Amino acid sequence: MNTPTPRRAIRRRTQGTGLGNPQAIRTAHPDRSDPSDASGDEPSVGVVISGCDYLGLSDDPVIRRAWLEASAIGPLQTGASRATTGDHPLYRHAEATIAGFLGEPAAVLTATGYLASLAVAQGLRDRATQVLVDGSAHNCVQDGARLSGLPVITFAPGDPKALRAALRGLPRSARPLVATDGVHGIRGGMAPLAEYLRALPVAGWLWVDDAHGLGSVGPTGRGSPEVFGLRDSRLIRSVTFSKALGVAGGAVIGEAALMEHLRSRAGAYLGSSAPPLAVAAAIAAAVGRVHRLPGRVRRLQDWAVRFSKALPARPEILNDPRTPVTAIHPGDAAQAQRLTEALSRAGFIPPWIRYPGGPGDGFFRIALKATHSRSQIDRLARAIRAGFKA
Ligand SMILES: Cc1ncc(COP(=O)(O)O)c(C=O)c1O
Repeated sequence: MNTPTPRRAIRRRTQGTGLGNPQAIRTAHPDRSDPSDASGDEPSVGVVISGCDYLGLSDDPVIRRAWLEASAIGPLQTGASRATTGDHPLYRHAEATIAGFLGEPAAVLTATGYLASLAVAQGLRDRATQVLVDGSAHNCVQDGARLSGLPVITFAPGDPKALRAALRGLPRSARPLVATDGVHGIRGGMAPLAEYLRALPVAGWLWVDDAHGLGSVGPTGRGSPEVFGLRDSRLIRSVTFSKALGVAGGAVIGEAALMEHLRSRAGAYLGSSAPPLAVAAAIAAAVGRVHRLPGRVRRLQDWAVRFSKALPARPEILNDPRTPVTAIHPGDAAQAQRLTEALSRAGFIPPWIRYPGGPGDGFFRIALKATHSRSQIDRLARAIRAGFKA
């Protein structure tokens, strides 16, 4: 589909607003009322409904302070892989904090979430016998599976029956690594983790890339396994801190002996520097913020349910009330244009993107944030309804 349409509209709308400077983007904040609601005026700059800062922590003062203090008092970086001379107590602290928050024995920090995924697959390549990948998994999971060098079997997205059939085809001695996203970051659905785990043999692992689940789903923001009440030593998670936690960096979390094994086997850990020390400090602070701000997590989840109820039931709209992500794949360029105009008129920056694994050659990816106001959520749903009616 021809995509300049939404882009043209954004340019028109943001002329002279300073939007070239990201600082100028007005993001909603729970403590501030929405000026456009109070006055009836259009906001001068569009409200951001894209990205992955689901909890609005990317400008959190406590996390910022942790970041700044760490960079003020110590070296910026240790200058080597942690497996050689580059380890530091701040890395260990960040690992203990995320493992403790998730109620898991251990964690291994990586510079990004992408590397965390590669590290899982590399770390298990001498333990597992094949990787079974949910067909909708993020490309870092698919890349990890390929780089493991193990045989890779892809099963139908979100389909436990297809997984069971694939598992039945394996020899009795198999030790399969089943890999999936927890929350799908493009269309917002969730993998049926409980069913995947039930299908798994005792000598297997379920690897959940919970990049979009950490902080955003589960009653206390502990992610996709919390949604299903899962506790299992065969569960391995990879996460990123660049989404709901608003920072950067990644981690693998799971059973202690396996995490130690991964440190000695995974090239993505051994041959790569850890994140800057300030990032490690900020990660620990961000995890603490999620723990201490349960109201933020609840608010995000309330918005997701409220928004979902207010959306029209249409095949173009992919929405799951458990998650903050909605994808809208317009049927044609004219519909994309109508939605763009309806969103712009209502004061939102139309979140038109292209992404590997996303529908068609472009779509609107809407990300709700805890920092949006209730009236913004309602206005957003109204705008979408209007865009489809026009
Ligand atoms: C599902 C998923 N996993 C992993 C990543 C990678 O995380 P990072 O940006 O920290 O490398 C992303 C990022 O977009 C993602 O969507």
